[in-house]
Amino acid sequence: MAPALLLISGSLGLRFQTMYESGVRTCEYWQRNQERSYNDDGKHSNVQQRDRVLSTVGYSSTVRLAGKTAIITGAARGIGLATAIRFAEEGARVALGDVDERTAVASLQRVQEHSPDSFFRPLDVTHRESVQAFVDETRRRFGRIDILINNAGITADAQLLKMTEADFDRVIDINLKGVFNCTQATAAVMVEQGYGKIVSATSVVGLYGNFGQTNYVAAKAGVIGMTKVWARELGRKGILVNAIAPGFINTDMSRKVPDKFLNIIKEKTPLARMGTTSDIANAYLFLASDESSFVNGAVLSVDGGLVV
Ligand SMILES: NC(=O)c1ccc[n+]([C@@H]2O[C@H](COP(=O)([O-])OP(=O)(O)OC[C@H]3O[C@@H](n4cnc5c(N)ncnc54)[C@H](O)[C@@H]3O)[C@@H](O)[C@H]2O)c1
Repeated sequence: MAPALLLISGSLGLRFQTMYESGVRTCEYWQRNQERSYNDDGKHSNVQQRDRVLSTVGYSSTVRLAGKTAIITGAARGIGLATAIRFAEEGARVALGDVDERTAVASLQRVQEHSPDSFFRPLDVTHRESVQAFVDETRRRFGRIDILINNAGITADAQLLKMTEADFDRVIDINLKGVFNCTQATAAVMVEQGYGKIVSATSVVGLYGNFGQTNYVAAKAGVIGMTKVWARELGRKGILVNAIAPGFINTDMSRKVPDKFLNIIKEKTPLARMGTTSDIANAYLFLASDESSFVNGAVLSVDGGLVV
């Protein structure tokens, strides 16, 4: 019985370890140990014990960002925060960036429950110095940057004849140029590493247009264009670039949209509901993980079938 007891305590150790190290390599090691113990045990071998270890191996392989580091912009709330928590649960260390420092304090605590090394630093994606300082600090703390999630964004809606130049410029500056600023600074690090995953938030309206959103649609359509350019430019350097196009998701941003319009959207959506922040965090996770290792230059719609 002694070898069996030893293995059980070993498997608990593995479970803990995989939060921080390469899950796959550690799993293989465990499995080999288990085989040896099973053979050593001869006719006293315990099948239940073996099943137990294999199910632990199954658990480990679900830690999809083990050992990875990620920058998430606009991470203080909404989709960005849900994504930061999800990534932390999956074993990543996360650098949270946002202009909203007050909200970010509590948000960071929720992320650190799963990933204690994660940190927040104020970030304005429109200021190139702020972006460069953020990227430099992330690299200094984590040693490398595997994932960039270009998530920060705003709306300032008005019909064409009423839209001010200031609102047009502000939305383009954050939603389009901000993505350029963050990607340019981070891609330089990723090229050196020969590895990177970049995922940007566009929107269903960037694909199909929307009433009252000249500025926002222009920016989100531009993000799709940049994604395709960068997928071509960076693919050979080991960097994969994709975008997600959420439908209408329940966050502060969509709460500005009149209920009457949101009800029409729900009726038109085959799944008959708005999206949740988890729906989008999981899509970001897929494109940030190595499960999407042959997906490059794609725009993944996550909209419940709104625009099939
Ligand atoms: N909510 C939706 O229905 C929906 C639909 C499609 C696309 N999106 C996109 O998803 C992304 C996240 O949206 P959300 O719904 O979570 O919005 P949100 O308003 O809840 O969160 C956006 C975050 O971005 C931050 N931010 C704003 N300006 C910034 C700047 N200059 N630098 C750094 N951070 C900044 C905000 O402080 C906020 O924390 C956005 O790009 C948005 O356009 C949202």
